[in-house]
Amino acid sequence: MLEGGTQRQAGLDMRALRFALVLCLLLAVAVGVYVFAAGPPAIDPITPPAAASFDPAVVKRGAILAAIGDCDTCHTAPGGRAFAGAVAIPTPFGTIFSTNITPDAATGIGAWSEAAFQRAMRKGVRRDGAYLYPAFPYDHFTQVSDDDNRALYAFLMTRAPVHATVPANTLSFPFNHRTVMAGWNLLFLSPGPSNVYATMDAGTARGLYLVEGLGHCGACHTPRNFLGAEKFGDALAGAEVEGWTAYALDASSPAAVPWTAAALYRYLRDGFEEHHGVARGPMAEVVANLRAAPEEDVRAIATYIAGQSTKAGAQKQASQQVAVQARRGEAVAAASADSQANRASVGSSDGGEGAVIYAAACAGCHEGPRAMPYGGIDLALSSAITGPNADNLVTIVIDGLPAVAGIRSPIMPAFGNVIDDGQVAGLAKYLRGRFTDKGSWSDIEKSVRDARGSGRAVTVSSTRMDQR
Ligand code: HEC
Ligand code: HEC
Ligand code: HEC
Repeated sequence: MLEGGTQRQAGLDMRALRFALVLCLLLAVAVGVYVFAAGPPAIDPITPPAAASFDPAVVKRGAILAAIGDCDTCHTAPGGRAFAGAVAIPTPFGTIFSTNITPDAATGIGAWSEAAFQRAMRKGVRRDGAYLYPAFPYDHFTQVSDDDNRALYAFLMTRAPVHATVPANTLSFPFNHRTVMAGWNLLFLSPGPSNVYATMDAGTARGLYLVEGLGHCGACHTPRNFLGAEKFGDALAGAEVEGWTAYALDASSPAAVPWTAAALYRYLRDGFEEHHGVARGPMAEVVANLRAAPEEDVRAIATYIAGQSTKAGAQKQASQQVAVQARRGEAVAAASADSQANRASVGSSDGGEGAVIYAAACAGCHEGPRAMPYGGIDLALSSAITGPNADNLVTIVIDGLPAVAGIRSPIMPAFGNVIDDGQVAGLAKYLRGRFTDKGSWSDIEKSVRDARGSGRAVTVSSTRMDQR
């Protein structure tokens, strides 16, 4: 116990030291930039071009690209005007507010020339020469081609201008100084567009371009280092985002049934796939936006991601598949036997109570052929249960899946007011043991506390069953 504590302490000290060292480095670079080079120059303001000066076909293409890039998700506040910014983006260094990217000359990007816009996307530099923070995923958007930037620019410059200033960021020192980002860029930004696309077949190149560039899948699915940069060599290895776990999409994917290109296509297109379930939370918004994308782009993304997840080899896949099928059969049989046995021993232990809750409150919808919108998948198939922690599972148990107005979407009741924190934790523990052969989760209680405290809602707005 004591030894573990000391080791942890030593680990923390090392981390603190490394943090301090790199911080010094960043500051040194920033000071260097400040003193020796003036930093990037300002680009002259322009009078906002008339909307009619843009080719409608290019504007239309820009609209699709903006959807793939999730520009609205980050730049339109709930209930706010489109693209007027002010969405709070929490980071370990403080809160950053997205900016107004409507063509208002005073408070938006109306005075930005196409060159200024292009520079922001590619280098993370504002029109006035100040550095932008990578909460704006320019480390991905740097890959966006000139042509696509032109279309995005045309799309944004033809939106309704909104006169609105956004709240000031609340970043801690030294990150409240934008100059520090000069050092960050030097360390972590590899300016695009990369020339690897030219060496690939068209389909793979398109998939890579969309995943790495505009689609910025890694912004949520790649773990970050202590300076908030995505870790090199860990692309799509899974990460935490806004209290959710964005599962690994590489060979370490927790999915019980390995993802295939076809399954990924269905999941990304409809927000649901029968062997993997439904896209929730931030992923629901990604899927909702992808609805605007042409079929071949979604296929290219699916094929590229499937390639990442099968890098470990087909052999592993085959054996996993067999194991899963065996486990599914077992799980279903065992669960019903269990629930009968457990009815006699209510509350005898955590597992016991979890089993009882599962049998009484969950099995009816999650076992057997119950149709949508109330039919849930066999929980042995859910990455929420095979994943690295209980975060997503407890969120869905507490909040449920609310019905979505206007579309036929899957519905699950919220259990947050029906069972207490201890029972949610007990249930999670039981499900993990029951439906996986993986080790137990370490801090389920924390997941429950976080889910209760966050007030985050589960969005499934993207899940369209009527398209299937
Ligand atoms: C993950 C959230 C996120 C996404 C997605 C996103 N942005 Fe942003 N964007 C931000 C944030 C946050 C800022 C402000 C950064 C700062 O102040 O340094 C920003 C700033 C910008 C700026 C600089 C504007 C200014 O006035 O300084 C432009 C231009 C921009 N975004 C365009 C886009 C476009 C185009 C897309 C879609 C292709 C997009 N953004 C998608 C979060 C996002
Ligand atoms: C804003 C953050 C965010 C972005 C951007 C994002 N994802 Fe996700 N993704 C998530 C979260 C969170 C989950 C878990 C959602 C859940 O539990 O339903 C997820 C889940 C997934 C899953 C399901 C994995 C499994 O094992 O169940 C796939 C596949 C996926 N994302 C693919 C993508 C692709 C491809 C992209 C880029 C086009 C992308 N994601 C971009 C946050 C994101
Ligand atoms: C009224 C029916 C209903 C009940 C009761 C219900 N669920 Fe669900 N559940 C659903 C539906 C529908 C979905 C969405 C489809 C899917 O992904 O399985 C879902 C999704 C889920 C998921 C996400 C699966 C995935 O990865 O996509 C989990 C985990 C889950 N439910 C757990 C539970 C637990 C635990 C209980 C009991 C406390 C429960 N559910 C009770 C209908 C129900």
